[in-house]
Amino acid sequence: MAIIALVSAKGSPGVTTSALAAALSWHRRLVLAECDPAGGSILAGYLGGALDGPRGIGELAVGELRDGNLDTAFWSQLVDLDAPKRERLLLPGVVDPAQAGSVTPLWQRFADFFAGLEQGLPPYDVLVDCGRLQVAGPPWPVLRAAAVVLLVTRAQLPDLSATRATIRAVERDLAEHRVPPGALRLLVVGDGHGNSEISKALRVPVIARLPYDPRTAAVLSLGGTVRAGRPLMRAAGALEVPIRALLERRRARLAWPVPQTTPQAPVAQEAPHVS
Ligand SMILES: Nc1ncnc2c1ncn2[C@@H]1O[C@H](COP(=O)(O)OP(=O)(O)O)[C@@H](O)[C@H]1O
Ligand SMILES: [Mg+2]
Repeated sequence: MAIIALVSAKGSPGVTTSALAAALSWHRRLVLAECDPAGGSILAGYLGGALDGPRGIGELAVGELRDGNLDTAFWSQLVDLDAPKRERLLLPGVVDPAQAGSVTPLWQRFADFFAGLEQGLPPYDVLVDCGRLQVAGPPWPVLRAAAVVLLVTRAQLPDLSATRATIRAVERDLAEHRVPPGALRLLVVGDGHGNSEISKALRVPVIARLPYDPRTAAVLSLGGTVRAGRPLMRAAGALEVPIRALLERRRARLAWPVPQTTPQAPVAQEAPHVS
């Protein structure tokens, strides 16, 4: 399919939780990449930190800066979220803040690489947790490479007001980089103002709303067994449909450019058991 980026304006509306919930119920092969410069949390949270050693985008960045080996090292830095199927793979984010300095200069390199995964054998969609935009070194090149940018927001007034300012910043940046308009959508989390009211006020369509479901969110944040029938998982599972519809509309209208690189077949590391 493509790169789908998730990002927020401020606070913690639930970017990581929403991205993980969507990833766990995605129907096509997927890499979930944690590109939040403030750090990744899925390895230590949902996966309970049960890995043999450091793994993820920080390791990739250090290797790429030293040896230029991103293409060969990529698959060995992934964790299988659905072992042993290797259909839903996690690229863990930085844990050590010192690694953030290595990752930030490589956002364009990572964006180009992710774009190539769509054309790999087999192809992978890439869901990217870009974190909060109001931090140092946000992954702008990944947002520009994304076919769909989901701005995650809660539905209360203070959240919406912060989101409004961020919408304008994203729209301005994408326009400056000649990204065809129409990529940006709102993903609303929890109760508050209605979807159509929010779309109208912020002048960006709401693609979907994920329900307030603290029990499931706690499992996704801290670990445990995810139940597919829970409201958050059901809504996250349905998210792929409007995303795909938007992608197809955009592709048809824009003749979406085909990325050039062809990544190697994946050899993901075994993940710790996740039921
Ligand atoms: N749909 C939801 N329902 C209830 N709580 C949620 C939901 N999504 C996220 N949360 C909770 O909100 C907090 C922040 O979520 P997180 O995904 O880490 O936010 P972000 O990545 O935007 O910083 C966590 O405690 C998480 O469990
Ligand atoms: Mg997060």
